[in-house]
Order: sequence, then structure tokens, then C-alpha cells
Amino acid sequence: MKLIFVTHNKNKLDEVAKITPEHIEVFSLSQIGFNEDIPETELTLEGNAKLKVDAILKNKNANCFSDDSGLFVEALNGEPGVFSARYSGKRDTNINNELLLRNMQRVQSRSAYYMSVFCLYFNGTYHFFEGRLYGEIASHPKGNNGFGYDPIFIPKGYTATLGELSEKIKLELSHRTRALNKMIDFLALNS
Ligand code: IMP
Repeated sequence: MKLIFVTHNKNKLDEVAKITPEHIEVFSLSQIGFNEDIPETELTLEGNAKLKVDAILKNKNANCFSDDSGLFVEALNGEPGVFSARYSGKRDTNINNELLLRNMQRVQSRSAYYMSVFCLYFNGTYHFFEGRLYGEIASHPKGNNGFGYDPIFIPKGYTATLGELSEKIKLELSHRTRALNKMIDFLALNS
């Protein structure tokens, strides 16, 4: 089975390739010659994930999938959420992480979760799959692994941040892995 993964993000592509079973052939946007940027303008992860799939469907009627993800902090009413990549107004990880820690200086609960939503367009119908990773926000950044908010996110059941934990553990726990596994199970039952 051939599926296009609607992403320009090499890290995501590698992550997905590691999990997807061999009978599902995943093609990247560059492999199909699609180089346009797809602005994420919706206010929900589902909306942005669908918007990316629709950008492909405008050009090509093919089975494809995309994802959108973010960090949701309880004490900040779900911020940065769908705006995680540009929380400070800039696509700058250090500035975004510093802003988040500053906004949490006077709050009690540090509970947060990462959420990923996959949108799959398969044989004419859209399907959505969600994965979450619960944890809490650390008091200061630790570790250089992962990306984005990983140095300030401590997964539930651990004392280290995702920045300190190994790539293998991150992959096992990840919100993206959880959502992707649901999509893989769906495809196993429906193809
Ligand atoms: P997107 O799914 O690429 O749009 O991701 C949105 C943003 O959410 C990223 O730029 C990160 O700031 C944050 N994010 C999503 N998943 C992760 C993760 O696994 N680790 C760290 N940050 C993440």
C-alpha cells in the first residue's frame, strides 16, 4: 500500500518510517515533487491536519496522511496548544521554552500533555487518530535530546525530561507514536 505523508519535516518522516510496517510504503512530499509550504491557519490540530491533506488532494487524488501536534499546559488553559511552534511569535525553541517557563512562575499545577492528531485520507474518506503523552513542565530546561519543548517536559512515571531520555524511550512514549499506531491498526483492519 502506498501512502503520501504530508510533511516537510525530516524528523517526523524518519520517526514515522521507523514505526510503519513494511507493507505500507510511505512517500514524502519531496518524493512526489510537492515543495510548496502549507501554512497552518486553523485553530485546532484536527483542522490543521486536514488542511495539509487537502493541499495534496487539490493536486492529486491519492491516499495520504498528515499530522499536527502541540503541547497543552493545564494551568495556562491549554496554551501553547495549536500555537506551540510559534508561542512567542517566533519559530525559536529557546525563546518559546523561556516564555512558557516565565508564564508558569506563579502557577501551582505543572500538568501538561503533548497531543498529536493524524488525519488520514483513505479511499475517499477522512479519518482522525489522536495520541497523547501526559507529564509535567520542569522548573528549568535539561538535556539536549529531542526537539521543541522536550528539555522542559517530564513524562508521567519519569523524573528526567524528554531532553535527557533516550531517543528509543521517546519513540516508545511519544504522542505521535500513539496516534500513528491507531492509524496503522485501522489500515490493517480496512485494507
Ligand atoms: P507540528 O506538528 O510540527 O506543527 O508541531 C508543532 C509544535 O509542537 C512543534 O514545533 C513543537 O514546538 C511542539 N511539539 C510537537 N511535538 C513535540 C515533541 O514531540 N517534542 C517537543 N515539541 C513538540
